[in-house]
Amino acid sequence: MTMIALTVNGERREADVEARQLLVYFLREQLGLKGTNVGCDTSSCGACTVLVDGESVKSCTVLAVQADGSEVTTIEGLATGDELHPVQQAFHEQHGLQCGFCTPGFVMATVSLLKENPSPSEEEIRHALEGNLCRCTGYHNIVRAVEAAARAGA
Ligand code: FES
Ligand code: FES
Repeated sequence: MTMIALTVNGERREADVEARQLLVYFLREQLGLKGTNVGCDTSSCGACTVLVDGESVKSCTVLAVQADGSEVTTIEGLATGDELHPVQQAFHEQHGLQCGFCTPGFVMATVSLLKENPSPSEEEIRHALEGNLCRCTGYHNIVRAVEAAARAGA
């Protein structure tokens, strides 16, 4: 076991983890942050996307020990109290979800995209989110939601 210390959603966390523990399972099982989903476990679907030091990362591709010392944000860390993050609000208003399984990953990837490119074209949105899959094929409204979030200045 290895002791790691990191900040998760603004809170400092220390924990003993196995060297082979993936970040996604650390978040879900050790910290109980079940909003980060596991869709494939093989870096294909993006359901496990979180921010590590502000960059979107598929947390099934990262070991928990690699996140030692970093700042991790999960879907649970976006809202401020009862107030949704503008990206969450835009997904809600534009019906950018169906079953919702892929949604946390899309929202986190969108937060990262809009930080780098606050006003992306539809093509840039589709390109930036191509690592995230929606089995319900809700892509049209997802793109609309990202555009709405950009307009809202997310
Ligand atoms: S669970 Fe990580 S990419 Fe699918
Ligand atoms: S809304 Fe169901 S997988 Fe995307």
